[in-house]
Amino acid sequence: MSTNNKAVLTYGEGKTAEFPVLKATIGPDVIDIRSLYGKTGQFTYDPGFLSTASCSSKITYIDGDEGVLLYRGYPIEQLAAKCDFLEVCYLLLNGEMPNQEQNKEFVNTITRHTMVHDQMTRFFQGFRRDAHPMAVLVGTVGALSAFYHDSLDINNPEHRRVSAMRLIAKLPTMVAMAYKYNMGQPFVYPRNDLSYTANFMQMMFAVPAEDYKVNDVLVRALDRIFILHADHEQNASTSTVRLSGSSGANPFACIAAGIACLWGPAHGGANEAALNMLEQIGDVSKVGEFITKAKDKNSGVKLMGFGHRVYKNYDPRAKLMRETCYEVLNALGLENDRLFKLAMALEKIALEDDYFVQRKLYPNVDFYSGIVQRALGIPTSMFTCIFSLARTVGWIAQWQEMIADPEYKIGRPRQLYDGAPRRDLVPMNKR
Ligand code: CMC
Repeated sequence: MSTNNKAVLTYGEGKTAEFPVLKATIGPDVIDIRSLYGKTGQFTYDPGFLSTASCSSKITYIDGDEGVLLYRGYPIEQLAAKCDFLEVCYLLLNGEMPNQEQNKEFVNTITRHTMVHDQMTRFFQGFRRDAHPMAVLVGTVGALSAFYHDSLDINNPEHRRVSAMRLIAKLPTMVAMAYKYNMGQPFVYPRNDLSYTANFMQMMFAVPAEDYKVNDVLVRALDRIFILHADHEQNASTSTVRLSGSSGANPFACIAAGIACLWGPAHGGANEAALNMLEQIGDVSKVGEFITKAKDKNSGVKLMGFGHRVYKNYDPRAKLMRETCYEVLNALGLENDRLFKLAMALEKIALEDDYFVQRKLYPNVDFYSGIVQRALGIPTSMFTCIFSLARTVGWIAQWQEMIADPEYKIGRPRQLYDGAPRRDLVPMNKR
């Protein structure tokens, strides 16, 4: 990974320090500053990690200027068109696509871990019915570590593998349980004769009073949503999972931390916020007025589903999501869907507006995913749970990669202290 290149830092009064430059397969090389403090007595300052690589990784690559997303080297467009979600899970976890035998075994293992301990139902029942499903998911996923003691030794590769399988297999069951609880309907058990995604849809939408009929177009659309959300290199929630895991915390606790981080509206909560925004705008005639507000920094309003820290071009996932949107709305006879038309009008106006052009603000994956999910019958409050379900494989693959990395250390950032210098306490009666 290292090159002959060196970066030389000049600091203080003409002092210099040399640092190795590590070579990336593709994308920017990095200056290895691990010895900076030892050599200079100074830290770097980078709130928000604008220029900091927190780890090395072989899982996902993004070229934000070109709008490229690769999982283990494969373009997202090819994976979304030709694979199903569980093949992508295998790829993210193992680094290579499965052959037929490996795929069969992987699907079988996941399918046989979909049930949750029956006592978990009591956890759900402890929540208020009107609790946000993400609040329920953070709590119940964290609680899994209280049930699966036999796979908590993070130094044992077999324990790590079993925990990974459990998380990927049980998340759909738990997301569906959070929904059913919220709706006041009975929980629906997993069915092993269905695919991963079809099974999730039946756990969400089946009721004891009638059979649930699987619609292949809708299953394929949701499976594609899962693929598009499966990993996205070192985003906020993935970094949260890595940081939590770096202390040796168990994988169920780490994924619960990732879910908590994903909930925020600047991250996974954006799909819910984008759909609420479209509802709030209501009509194409109001788009201009809304765009004016989104450009005004004092309004506190942002164009949700627009902009990205890394993509300074059209998010490749947003393109695929827009296609999926067409397919689903056509399959359901909803070609004239009011919110889809509104979203397209909003996108067109924003992409021509100087404010958005200059700042390279393009639609991101969340701009269209809410419209697809709504058409599938998934309520807005569940959108971020669906994102959590899909991202669990990325989180766990990144966690596995970190634990197996010989260079892994507990994450411990430093700070620029700009508070009061040392001072002596004044007794209360003299303050
Ligand atoms: N609407 C209006 N202005 C925006 C927007 C937006 N959606 N996004 C960024 N800007 C402006 C921002 O005010 C700033 O302007 P200026 O340079 O004049 O101060 C400039 O664009 C750069 O923005 P930034 O906030 O410095 O960019 P960032 O990289 O820190 O933030 C972001 C990225 C995704 C948090 C932000 O674009 C945003 O809040 N977007 C809306 C929420 C959203 O859609 N999030 C989903 C992200 S994709 C899914 C995921 O990975 O979770």
